[in-house]
Amino acid sequence: MIPIKPSEITPKHVYLSRRDFIKAAGVLAGSMALAACGVSTPAPTGSAPADSTVPAADGRKDELGDPVNSYADITNYNNYYEFTTDKEGVAQLAAQFPTTPWDVEVYGLVNKPQKFGVEDLVSRFQPEERIYRLRCVEAWSMVIPWVGFPLSKLLNAVEPTSAARYVRFETIFKPDELPGQKDIWYPWPYQEGLRLDEAMNDLTLLATGLYGGELPAQSGGGIRLVVPWKYGFKSIKAIIKIELTDKQPATMWSSIAPNEYGFYANVNPAVDHPRWSQASERRIGEISRRNTLPFNGYADQVAHLYDGMDLSINY
Ligand code: MTE
Repeated sequence: MIPIKPSEITPKHVYLSRRDFIKAAGVLAGSMALAACGVSTPAPTGSAPADSTVPAADGRKDELGDPVNSYADITNYNNYYEFTTDKEGVAQLAAQFPTTPWDVEVYGLVNKPQKFGVEDLVSRFQPEERIYRLRCVEAWSMVIPWVGFPLSKLLNAVEPTSAARYVRFETIFKPDELPGQKDIWYPWPYQEGLRLDEAMNDLTLLATGLYGGELPAQSGGGIRLVVPWKYGFKSIKAIIKIELTDKQPATMWSSIAPNEYGFYANVNPAVDHPRWSQASERRIGEISRRNTLPFNGYADQVAHLYDGMDLSINY
C-alpha cells in the first residue's frame, strides 16, 4: 500500500471535524494507507466454480489477445475497504457475508422508481459474459470475465426524467458485517457516480457473476458496477441504491483526496497521479510492466463522451 502524508489532504474536503481529522491523521501516519488501490504479489492460480450461466473463462482472451486472469487471482486479490485494506485478506473476511437475497433500489429523477431483487434483474435482463480489463489507479491490472448486463437496461426500465444528468451509486452500510465501516476515517457508505451518458454507454455493466458462476462477496456480490475505461475505484461493489440526480454526486475517494482521485477517473497514461506515473502498469501474473492505454483500451467506444473537455483538468 502507498501511504499518503496528512499534509497532502485538503482539509476543506475532509468530512471529519478538524480535531477528529488530526486524531485520524495520526492513526493514518502510523498504520494506515490512503490509496484507492495498492500493489502486492499476485495470488496463486486456481480453477473456476463449476455451476454456470455461461462457460467458465479459463484460457480465454480479451479482444486485445490478453488472457483472462485466473479465478484465484481475481477472487483473492481485492480492494474492498469495507472489509480490510489488505488485498489478500478480503476473501477470508468476506466469506460469511450474505449476498443473496439482494435488493437494489432505483429512484430519484425517474418516472418509475422501483426496488429490484437481483434474481429478478437476472431473469429480466439475461446477463452475458463480458471480458474486461480492470486498471487500478495504483497501476496494477487484471483481465476479468464478468457476467452482467448493461446498466442502460435497468435505467431504461425506470425511465429517467429529462432533468436527470447523473447517476449516484451507494454500497450497503452494515458495520457489524463489514468491519471496515467502523473505521471513522472513511466517509461511509462508499459512493460513486457517473454522468448519465457514461452510465448509458453499452460498456457500463452491472455485474452479477464472474467466471461463468456467481459473484462472490469479495468481488462485489450481490451486484456491482464495472466501468472498464475508468480506474477501478469507480467500479463500486455491493450496490443497494442507484439514484438519478441533476447534480454531480460526491464520491468517496474524491471527497477524501480530490487532488488525487477525480470524479471522471478515466484511465489516462498522459496524466500522472500526483504521487506516481500512470504511464505503465503491472498486469497481475506478469513480471514486466506494460504500457497503459488511453481509456484502458476502450477509446473507440468512449473517447467521444469527452469531446471538448480538458482531461488533465477533469481527471
Ligand atoms: N467498492 C467498494 N464498495 N469498496 C471498495 O473498497 N474498491 C474499489 C472498487 N470498488 C472498492 C469498491 C477499487 S479501489 C478497486 S481497484 C476495485 O473495486 C477492485 O475490484 P476487485 O476487488 O473486484 O478487483
